[in-house]
Parts: sequence; structure tokens; C-alpha cells
Amino acid sequence: TRKIILDCDPGHDDAIAMLLAHGNPDVELVAVTTVVGNQTLEKVTRNALSVARIAGITGVPFAAGCPRPLVREVENALEIHGESGLDGPRLPEPELALDRRHAVDLIIDTVMAHEPGEITIVPTAGLTNIALAARKEPRIVSRVREVVLMGGGYHQGNWSAVAEFNIIIDPEAAHIVFNESWPLTMVGLDLTHQALATTEVTERIAALGTGPARFVNELLDFFGATYRESQGFEHPPVHDPCAVAYVIDPGVMTVRRAPVDIELTGTLTRGMTVADFRAPAPDDCHTQVAVDLDHQRFWDLVVDALERIGEG
Ligand code: BDR
Ligand code: CA
Repeated sequence: TRKIILDCDPGHDDAIAMLLAHGNPDVELVAVTTVVGNQTLEKVTRNALSVARIAGITGVPFAAGCPRPLVREVENALEIHGESGLDGPRLPEPELALDRRHAVDLIIDTVMAHEPGEITIVPTAGLTNIALAARKEPRIVSRVREVVLMGGGYHQGNWSAVAEFNIIIDPEAAHIVFNESWPLTMVGLDLTHQALATTEVTERIAALGTGPARFVNELLDFFGATYRESQGFEHPPVHDPCAVAYVIDPGVMTVRRAPVDIELTGTLTRGMTVADFRAPAPDDCHTQVAVDLDHQRFWDLVVDALERIGEG
């Protein structure tokens, strides 16, 4: 079992990432941390705790992290995720209490309390918490097994022509995280735009007939509508669980080794994840980018996780 820290901003697709991580037996959620992103820190943290209740997650520490990016002003994704950050379903009152620690400290404590190579960090939001953790306790960098993040993309953006939301909201943090020496997999838009929740997918989820499955379909209803109206998608791309799926089963996607750096100063390209595909990749290349998704295998993992969660 791979132990993961999920650093997220729920967020419709973050919520589904959490359900996948909780329901799949090959990964173990050892901590969930939140960061400003899709909505304010306060809202996404509350959402994370509501999702925990729906999924029946107990005994896992949840901690709130940074309320704003390192340098930039706060930018939320209201037009995609709504006022609450998780609009659509009715959200239950949280039952879990937050860990008292700051997310950055929970991340550091968790990595340092485990053997080297045991913890994988899965960020599905802006990289503020992860960057600060690496700066506050540099020893985590060699201790972490790998970082598998949803963010970026090497040929298109969604928040600008070339930049993706999780990177552009805190490009300085992304710059820190991509330039640390840990193995890093960028599961970007090139990949996640293949993870479409088609009608066949939502029908499979509906057939499960459980509360958590209904919750997922209510999320996908709202997410599908905003993606249709604001981004011209027929079916919504369900980004964040792709990063979790890669940790569970690397065969779910193909990846390609390439150095990646973050554009901080471009006039048109700020927040772009610039991947260098010139061959051969340098020997010290520690980054790779996700290329092709096995759609069937991916959604099988999500449906299987929901089936195991049952009524939560
Ligand atoms: C990313 O941005 C957020 O709105 C989603 O939750 C996902 O992590 C996609 O660009
Ligand atoms: Ca997210």
C-alpha cells in the first residue's frame, strides 16, 4: 500500500480524488491538507471535512494550510466550482475536527515520521503548502518517495492560453516545487482533458445506488454544467483523481521524461509549465509529464472505489 498525503482545495474533482484515495485498497490516505484555490481556505477546508463525512473517512488528520499564495493576490475559481467551492449537492455538517497543526507542519511531521521513500505527496491544488514545507524542512525533499501533482500542461492552458489554474494562482510556489530534486510527475491538462465524465460513466456511477455515488453524480452535474458554459466542454474533465490514479496504477497512463520549469516573468506566458522534449532527456532529469490516459481503466478505478465505500 502506498501512503499518500492529499493536498487539495475541494473542489468537485478534489472531492472525487479524495473518494478514490479512500476507497482504493492500494493507497492509504495518511493526511489531508487544504490550501486556498477553488475557493477561500475556510470554504475548501469545510468542504474537505464534509466529504470526509460522506465517504466515512475517520482517523485521518485533516489540516488547513495557507490562506493566500506566496506572492500573488488570491484568485478563486468561482465560475467552475460555485459560491461554496462545491456547489450542487447538499453538504452535511462536518463531524471530524481539524488537526490543530498548520498543514505545512502536518506535511513535514508526516514525512519525517515515516521511513524515507514511504510517503507520496499528491497535490491537487496550488502549490503554496508544498513549497513552504520544502523551505521550512528541506529534509523532506529526499525523504518523499515522489510528488504526483495535478497541474500545468505542456500544450494548452485553462486559465490563460498556456497556463493552468493550479500553477497560475501561485507560480512562485510551483517554481519551488518543480525545482526541488524529488521525483515529480506532472499530471497536467494534456492528460486530464482525456478524463471526461461521459454519459456512460455517470450511468455506471448511478447504478451503484449508494449515497456517496449519488453525491459524485450531483457533483458531476454541476461541474458538467459550468464546464459546458464557461469552457465549451460537452462532458467535464475530472482532473484531480487522475493524479491519485497514477499512484494506484501507473499503467493507467503513459508518461514521458522531460525537464519542466515554470515561467514567472513572461508577458503572455506567466504560469506556463515549460516542458523540454528535446532528446535525450538529461541524466539528472527528475520530472516527467503524463501523456495518454486509459479512459476505461481510469473510470474502473473510480467506480470500484465507490463500490467499496458503499454507504460510507
Ligand atoms: C484544476 O483547477 C481546479 O479548479 C481543479 O480542482 C483542478 O485541480 C484544474 O485546472
Ligand atoms: Ca483541485
